[in-house]
Amino acid sequence: MSPRPRMILDCDPGHDDAFALIVAAHFADVVGVTTVAGNAPLELTTRNARIILDLCGSKAPLHSGANKPLVQPPVFADYVHGKSGMDGAELPEPSRPADSTHAVDFIIETVRTNEGLWLVPTGPLTNIALALTRAPDLAARVAGISLMGGGRFGNRTPAAEFNIWLDPEAAVTVFMSGAPITMAGLHLTHEFQASPERIAAVEASHPRVGSLLAGLLRFFSKSYVDRHVGFVGPAMHDVCSVLALTHPQMFQTSQRYVAVDVHGNHTRGMTVIDDRHLVDRPAVNTTMLERIDADAGFAAICEAVAACP
Ligand code: BDR
Ligand code: CA
Repeated sequence: MSPRPRMILDCDPGHDDAFALIVAAHFADVVGVTTVAGNAPLELTTRNARIILDLCGSKAPLHSGANKPLVQPPVFADYVHGKSGMDGAELPEPSRPADSTHAVDFIIETVRTNEGLWLVPTGPLTNIALALTRAPDLAARVAGISLMGGGRFGNRTPAAEFNIWLDPEAAVTVFMSGAPITMAGLHLTHEFQASPERIAAVEASHPRVGSLLAGLLRFFSKSYVDRHVGFVGPAMHDVCSVLALTHPQMFQTSQRYVAVDVHGNHTRGMTVIDDRHLVDRPAVNTTMLERIDADAGFAAICEAVAACP
């Protein structure tokens, strides 16, 4: 794998998406950023992405995409991320608008003209599914899709994780597309918590943006620590999907077949991971991230923050 993987980051910032952007801007070649409705309405996730790209000095093109899931109405995660999608700090006004092309057109054109790109979705999979439906050839052109979603347990419901739960039909398209999937599920990302000591380390990493980013993390922390038993801070879910490409040595992985349930009464939006020890197994479609070296992951976050202008 290239030491600087080339990627399009498709996100719904979102506190942890913001850190995924910052880490990607430092350790990867970000060919473009696309936004989707998820944690907050599309205008807000796009605005938040514009602010974060400014903070980390990235000039990557930014295109907004789908404003709702394929089938069901939008639902936002303000109970986790606040009304703005990224509450907790007095953030500066963004310096530039989004570029005008629709995210889905941008993804199709960019993948076709840059073989071997990674798609890194850290929100609902709506944009990626729309691109794969209109251009199924993308599945064979990408290096893979490193996504945050699903897991061996849920958060939005007992079975379903938020990103997959919000647009399960899109998730089916992505998992069945034939593109190699790398999956950061909740069983992994809950190991990657921003404890108070780690938030202090982020704060100390940069004289200007450190305190803004620490403010975001302290807000994000509240909803995790107050709502969960045994959490010391928020799970930095989305950063894992970037680190899996930039720092693969930090992870233990397994090879699995994953399907997505759309019909279940209690399991709509569940990623059904085939953990059976069968000799004859369904063909693998997913590299499952199983464990992360969380200290090394936070050192990488601090290094990326320190590199902000
Ligand atoms: C996912 O949902 C969002 O709240 C986070 O940004 C992350 O992508 C975790 O379930
Ligand atoms: Ca997200």
